Amino acid sequence: MFRIGSNRCVVISPLFWTLIVGSLAAGILIIMGISKFIIKDPRKKRTRELIKKIFRHTDLFGEGELWVGGLASLATITLVCFAYVFSNHFIRQYPIEASSDSYFACDTTIRNAKFQTGLQSLAIPLTNTDQQMFDLLDNQALVLNVDFVNTFIRCDAISIEALIGLVRSIIRWLNCDNINSTLSLSVQLPYQHVSIQVIIADVKTIGALRIGLYGDKHENENYVLKELKFYRSFFKNGSILARNLPVTLSLTNVINETLSIDGGQSIFGGIFIPTSTTDYNSLFFTEDQFVRSTLTLTTLNIVTSETPYYVKNLQEPIAKSSEIVFQNLLFTTVCLELFGLIFLLFKLLLKPMYYYIQSKSFTYLETNINNKQHNTCSTYQDKISGSNDADINETAYF
Ligand SMILES: *[C@@H]1O[C@H](CO)[C@@H](O)[C@H](O)[C@H]1NC(C)=O
Repeated sequence: MFRIGSNRCVVISPLFWTLIVGSLAAGILIIMGISKFIIKDPRKKRTRELIKKIFRHTDLFGEGELWVGGLASLATITLVCFAYVFSNHFIRQYPIEASSDSYFACDTTIRNAKFQTGLQSLAIPLTNTDQQMFDLLDNQALVLNVDFVNTFIRCDAISIEALIGLVRSIIRWLNCDNINSTLSLSVQLPYQHVSIQVIIADVKTIGALRIGLYGDKHENENYVLKELKFYRSFFKNGSILARNLPVTLSLTNVINETLSIDGGQSIFGGIFIPTSTTDYNSLFFTEDQFVRSTLTLTTLNIVTSETPYYVKNLQEPIAKSSEIVFQNLLFTTVCLELFGLIFLLFKLLLKPMYYYIQSKSFTYLETNINNKQHNTCSTYQDKISGSNDADINETAYF
């Protein structure tokens, strides 16, 4: 409110416009001041009185005591109006996903949103609302995508097994294709935390590996399950993939909660964030290992598990409408009091000083005049006394 800034900020600065209105008011004040001395026409004098009367009615500081107060009030009203316009725009800058740049403010990045983020243990019982988001996440069907890059292996060399319970069962792929020397394979996971083994009965070499997880999105009133599109690639310049490939993927639940600005229901968003804790180097042959290797099968073992914690992000509005209304009310009264204080200062300090100085110069003037009179008297008396026919009556008459 009380800063001007530079460039674009100047034009939208409340203080700038307040100063402009203030200087206009000062201009009017000066014109009125001058007109007091030059206007002699009674009709024009009446107009002047009318203007004073109008301004006395707009005086918010001294309850209509001073017409100058009415002029200053205009400046305050400008400032306060800017505060209202600002808060009206600011309150709409929530949530952050639905807001655009704040052109009404000097800093266009300001938003009516604050964030909290925390890592929470899954051991702590969830609230009902959080539980619904977890249910959606837990029921998301995941598809495992595996790409073997730079290989001539074909799909008929591949078999897939999943560890279901204690038994290894063969499962079918959804899709398998070798395009441009990349063998792409997708498998529907029977459930989320599972161990999948891909066995390739071929001695051909593989350059690199890419593993992805895909999950469909799902929207349900206030709960949004985001589409999962995760990919992680494993490659090393100048190396080829080893024959045994242990890959672990840990899934972490990430939940966004966006509180409603008007006390309604929160909006939830959720997604899995897979992280791989596999030792990168264990997936590649060193030259030595490659020469000595006698294995003819390549085995990729992928284990997906869940981390025992989850990430919770909370978005809240900085100011709700009731707070903004209250703050505006406070700001208005503070502004009025602030300007009122200046007037009070004027009344208490400057006015008495003015009168004091005036009275001082007045008494000075008076004594001067008295002295002068005295002087003339004495000279006159001298003259009189100087003349022979001194007449008391004459002196008295004088
Ligand atoms: C959480 O909110 C952030 C910021 O809007 C967004 O980028 C992210 O995609 C959201 N995540 C979820 C899971 O909704």
